[in-house]
Amino acid sequence: MTTDLKRPIHRAVFPVAGLGTRFLPATKASPKEMLTVVDRPVIQHVVDEARDAGLSQFIFVTGRNKQAIEDHFDRAFELEATLKARGRTQDLQALDDDLPGAGEASFTRQQEPLGLGHAVWCARNIVGEAPFALLLPDMLPLGDTGCLTQMMEVYRRTGGNIVAVEEVPEDETDKYGIVAVGRELEGGAFTIDTMVEKPKKGTAPSNLMIMGRYILQPEIFDILSTLEPGAGGEIQITDAMLKLAETQPFYGVRFAGRTYDCGNRLGFLTANVAYALGRSDIAPALRAELKRLLAET
Ligand code: G1P
Repeated sequence: MTTDLKRPIHRAVFPVAGLGTRFLPATKASPKEMLTVVDRPVIQHVVDEARDAGLSQFIFVTGRNKQAIEDHFDRAFELEATLKARGRTQDLQALDDDLPGAGEASFTRQQEPLGLGHAVWCARNIVGEAPFALLLPDMLPLGDTGCLTQMMEVYRRTGGNIVAVEEVPEDETDKYGIVAVGRELEGGAFTIDTMVEKPKKGTAPSNLMIMGRYILQPEIFDILSTLEPGAGGEIQITDAMLKLAETQPFYGVRFAGRTYDCGNRLGFLTANVAYALGRSDIAPALRAELKRLLAET
């Protein structure tokens, strides 16, 4: 039986079990995914991206001490009752808009930090036999249209498996998964020649990093279930994808926009400024403050 590689996608997987060791002490008692970019937790931005791309089933692979994420995607009874009693209907509506519908969010746990590939594998029974999107919450893309929306447009034409990529400086290629371009297709897409996770300095096949957004077929789970640890002694999704690419089509999409790595201080701070500058209610005042600050330092 040949699999239909263009089936519609409804499910999004968010690996949120990471300890956030790159961002201590902020992440000692709070999940890194709950740090705010402007006035929304990072994870809410990423769920919004999936929703804007038309997805409706949200699967979180979480871990110990991450209950705040579940609470964030549930009703806050006392808070809502208080807002209601005070007539704060706009605030109530805003909370309601952000909430997944009943039964749209599922949570499972990664019990040990064995790598991103392992975290994704932990979602296999909830995802089932369907293609799915994978969104890494550390990475916040900002463009005229959402990154996953751009990828879904390509998926409707090509089907198969897709990763979004973005250029990074040569001296940073060892921090990411890197792809090599095969054949160029329309709309910034291309076939992937090879991929490598965190290549040693000077050995990267290009400067195109996998920026944390994927569309994957469910056969990835079969591969993950027997995959040996790779870079950093962890089970790597990039290694599994490389194997899947032997039997299924794999495409890259150049993201039209810029991605902020919120797992480190500079990326997080820049994301806050960039997102705030895109908000008409804050941007004018922020511009003036930034000008003043820069003039003073
Ligand atoms: C993961 C992926 C890597 C990707 C990166 C994007 O690495 O393994 O391929 O480029 O996310 O943030 P990690 O950040 O978990 O080390």
